[in-house]
This record gives sequence, structure tokens and C-alpha cells, in this order.
Amino acid sequence: MGILKNKVAAAAIGLIAATSAAWADYPEKPVVLVVPFAAGGPSDKIARDLAEALRKPLAQTVIVDNTAGAGGTIGAARVARATPDGYTLLVHHIGMSTAPALYKKLPYKTLEDFEYLGLINEAPSTLIGKPGLAANNFADLRKWISANEGKVNIANAGVGSASHLCGLILQATLSSKMTFVPYKGTAPAMTDLMGGQVDLMCEQATNAVPQIEAKKVKVFGVTSKQRMALPSLAQSPTLAEAGLAGFEMSVWHGVYAPKGTPSAVLARLNGAIRTALKDPELIKRQEVLGVRVVTDSRLEPAEHKKYVEAEMTRWGKIIKDSGETAD
Ligand code: MLT
Repeated sequence: MGILKNKVAAAAIGLIAATSAAWADYPEKPVVLVVPFAAGGPSDKIARDLAEALRKPLAQTVIVDNTAGAGGTIGAARVARATPDGYTLLVHHIGMSTAPALYKKLPYKTLEDFEYLGLINEAPSTLIGKPGLAANNFADLRKWISANEGKVNIANAGVGSASHLCGLILQATLSSKMTFVPYKGTAPAMTDLMGGQVDLMCEQATNAVPQIEAKKVKVFGVTSKQRMALPSLAQSPTLAEAGLAGFEMSVWHGVYAPKGTPSAVLARLNGAIRTALKDPELIKRQEVLGVRVVTDSRLEPAEHKKYVEAEMTRWGKIIKDSGETAD
């Protein structure tokens, strides 16, 4: 029996070695980062910053490809179905944890159809309004919303997006029904908000800070636990201190590969992501927008997955209580 066991062990070691050797030259062609929202939004921004910073550690071209629609679920499904060879990855955010509670027929299984490659950043959201909105602080905005009950429209990037989740919590906390206006991403939504076609939007600081600094939108509060240090946001209250007790939301982004991607490739990718996130240029580009790069254990694939699972439980309850579903 001992000989048979040794033979099986030797065969297994041989197979692992052969598999690793087969992938030793990975990546031999450009790596694609799929962003499940329109170009120009916060998800696109972190993906392009990451792609830039990954080129050196991977010694390969890294490109961003936007596959927008249905609150990020179309892009996520594309990667879940992609060949598990390390050449098609997903950069996605908190929507990975909210979509399961919102979509009865989600075209992928969040915890089973992906390999987790690490959490990469965390961004507070801001509550912003069109330039001509008849309110200049959160207290006035609250009065304006209740005086216009049923007529207020708030933009988002589709059911399951971060802006949608933030709008859901705002609507529930204010107990005031609003009309949700979905876009393929918050970049096109921002254009309409600045043009006055929509009244409000909850947008990650990544995309909101430049427009707030340019005074192209009004800002009423931030969803972070503490006030933000950025000069353009230092005067903006947290929504919790403005009266929405417990309203705290941080939008995180992570990187994913299709289930079944070889472990040698996953290790190569996780190592390259860790190196990329130490790039001072990338860190600076995120920090000036109020966004924090992840440096803790959630960069570990197992910890990343555990975190997403915990977020699914946390947001699942809030979404269920809101009664909102996508289908
Ligand atoms: C985007 O990149 O458009 C946003 O992350 C979408 C959202 O989740 O609100």
C-alpha cells in the first residue's frame, strides 16, 4: 500500500509542477481588466490607475475594457464566463455584495464563480445636487425633499451600483420616495446632474471631488465615518452628523478572476496587485480624491472573499428591509 501511496503522491507533485511550469511564462499576452460601468466613472478610474501600475510587475500590457449595464452585473457575468486563463479579470466594487440581494436571477454566483484576487481601495461617497437646486446645506435639502415628495429624481448607475445602494439608504432614512434614474455609470449621470436634468446623486468621492472643486455641483454631505480632510469637503458634514444617524457607507473595489484560474496564475496576479498598490503615483492619484488604497489583510484572497461574504450579509438585510429588487 505504501508504494501505491508514494506513486500517487509523486504523480500529484509531478502534475502540480507540470501545471506551474505550463504557466511559468504567464502573462504572454495583454491582460484585460473588465470594468462593469461606463468609462470615466470611479470604477473606471481605479481600474485605469491599477492597469498603469500593473504593467511593470506583470511586464505586460494591461488594458481596461468597459462592459456596462444592469448595475455592473453584465460585466461581472462576462468575467464569470470567461476562460479561466488569467487574461480576463474583473475590477468591481460593493456591487459584488449587493447584487445577490437585488437580483432573483443573477447570471453568476458571487462566491462560487470567481477567484478573489484582493480588495484594492475604499472610497467614501458624497451626496451631491444639481447647481440650481434650491438648497445649500443638508437641513435645507431635507426640507426641499419633503416639500417635493414624489417629484425628486436621483441618478444612479443601475440597480446594484454603489450610487443605487446609497440612494436606497437615503430614501429609506428620509422615508421619502424618490424617482431613481439609472445610467450605465455615474460618469454619464454626472453630466446630466451638472446640466440640471436630474436633482441628486450619491457619488463616490473619486468622481465627485473634481466637480465639487469646480463648483459644478452642490455637496450636502459625505458617507464616511469622519469628515473628509480634502479642502473642498472639509466643511461638508458626514450624513450621520447631519441627522441621518448610522448612515455610513464606504465603496470598496476588488479584483476577480474566473473560477478555475490556475493557482500559479492567481499567485502571480495577487503579487503584482500588491506591488502595484505600493506605487506612489497610484496612491497619490487616489488620495487627492479622498480614496484610500487597501494595505491590510483584505489583500489576501481568502480575506477578500470573507469580507465580501460579510458585506453580502450586511447589505442583504438593509436591501431586504427596503423592499427593493431588480427583477
Ligand atoms: C461607476 O464607476 O460608474 C460607479 O462605480 C457606478 C456606481 O456604482 O455607482
